[in-house]
Amino acid sequence: MKVALAEAEMPVLRQIMADFKKRQPFKNVSIAACLHVTKETAVLIKALVLGGADVALCGSNPLSTQDDVAADLASHGVKVFAWRGVSPEKYYWCLNKVLDNKPQIVIDDGADLISLIHGKRRALLKTVWAGQEETTTGVIRLRAMAKAGKLKYPVVAINDTPTKHMFDNYYGTGQSTMDGLLRATNILLSGKILVVAGYGYCGKGMALRAKGLGARVIVTEVDPLPALQAVMDGFEVMPMKAAAKIGDIFLTATGDKDVITREHFKLMKDGTILGNSGHFNVEINAADLERTAGSVKRVRDNLDEYTMKDGRKLYLIAEGRLMNLAAAEGHPSAVMDMSFADQALTCEWLVHNHKLLENKVYDVQPAIDEKVSRLKLQSLGVKIDALTPAQKKYLASWQEGT
Ligand SMILES: NC(=O)c1ccc[n+]([C@@H]2O[C@H](COP(=O)([O-])OP(=O)(O)OC[C@H]3O[C@@H](n4cnc5c(N)ncnc54)[C@H](O)[C@@H]3O)[C@@H](O)[C@H]2O)c1
Repeated sequence: MKVALAEAEMPVLRQIMADFKKRQPFKNVSIAACLHVTKETAVLIKALVLGGADVALCGSNPLSTQDDVAADLASHGVKVFAWRGVSPEKYYWCLNKVLDNKPQIVIDDGADLISLIHGKRRALLKTVWAGQEETTTGVIRLRAMAKAGKLKYPVVAINDTPTKHMFDNYYGTGQSTMDGLLRATNILLSGKILVVAGYGYCGKGMALRAKGLGARVIVTEVDPLPALQAVMDGFEVMPMKAAAKIGDIFLTATGDKDVITREHFKLMKDGTILGNSGHFNVEINAADLERTAGSVKRVRDNLDEYTMKDGRKLYLIAEGRLMNLAAAEGHPSAVMDMSFADQALTCEWLVHNHKLLENKVYDVQPAIDEKVSRLKLQSLGVKIDALTPAQKKYLASWQEGT
């Protein structure tokens, strides 16, 4: 039922699915996917399976799997290796099971499968054609691998295409992080001082939505450009050490580690809430928090209370793992429609083009980005203008001036 509701909100992917079903582009193609196992992911997997693919799926984070969705997929014959709360050891067991399916195309969200293939499962390098990466953190890892000459198959950076990061990271993370914050704490945001660490695509969306809910938003950054943009967007900008003394809520989305550590915990007010929406649980140093605290107890679902030795209480959402997926349901289906349409169409592009590619990080084809935005506008009933021949000529020339 949940998956059907998601599908209803994903008109672009639905059209692609109907087309795949007719044309069978993935006949005899094995696809391994390491993605958050949500209802939207289930719709993507369904599209690939209807297109003829043999798909094996594992989760891309120990706390993001929706068990009912995993069960639903399994009942439809998909090979799923994922459950919520999986231990680190079992997490890698799941990844290995997915790789046992001998994939030709590998879809990653955080580059865990590709790391495994380039490490303990190198035999697969002979049979993998290409990969796709969903998120910022994964793309950073892949570019580092390519730069070091270590990347052994071509990968398409789905995250970097506009129809992904300008919508999913911005509107998706913006809204679903607030959803996670409210479900985990049920606090009133109006009047609270909310600190957003990182003013990238995710951080911008989170700051915008927090402001809309009445919070007084402070931004912390390390890059002068987004810091300046935050100032001009009307937010206060300051170093984390200064924000630590005044914030009520701290949300990270930097893709970086040790953004909030012991030196900040000791400055924070009693009752401070901490949460992360970045890909890995390294942004808030939870080990530091545990060491600094006198005791820890779970006070609500997805909320742990750390009592400091001086009596202050700090609250950590979902163990510092991405709170929009761990404490809520991840991004709304309507925005994942675009990200997963990019994934689905790129998969087909790889089937036809993988032999022509080098072991590099590639952008999504501009034609795919254009198709996805056009289909999404169509589904929203929005029409736009078209360039006239004279405008086309003007925009391609340099002779006309004042
Ligand atoms: N939770 C989700 O559903 C979801 C969705 C998309 C992306 N992500 C993840 O969120 C993270 C951010 O993604 P993005 O697309 O916004 O990246 P981005 O590169 O657009 O932005 C990151 C920003 O953080 C800043 N930053 C880096 N280190 C910092 C530090 N120590 N203190 C303050 N700011 C710092 C950078 O300067 C940059 O402006 C990544 O880990 C990405 O994989 C999560």
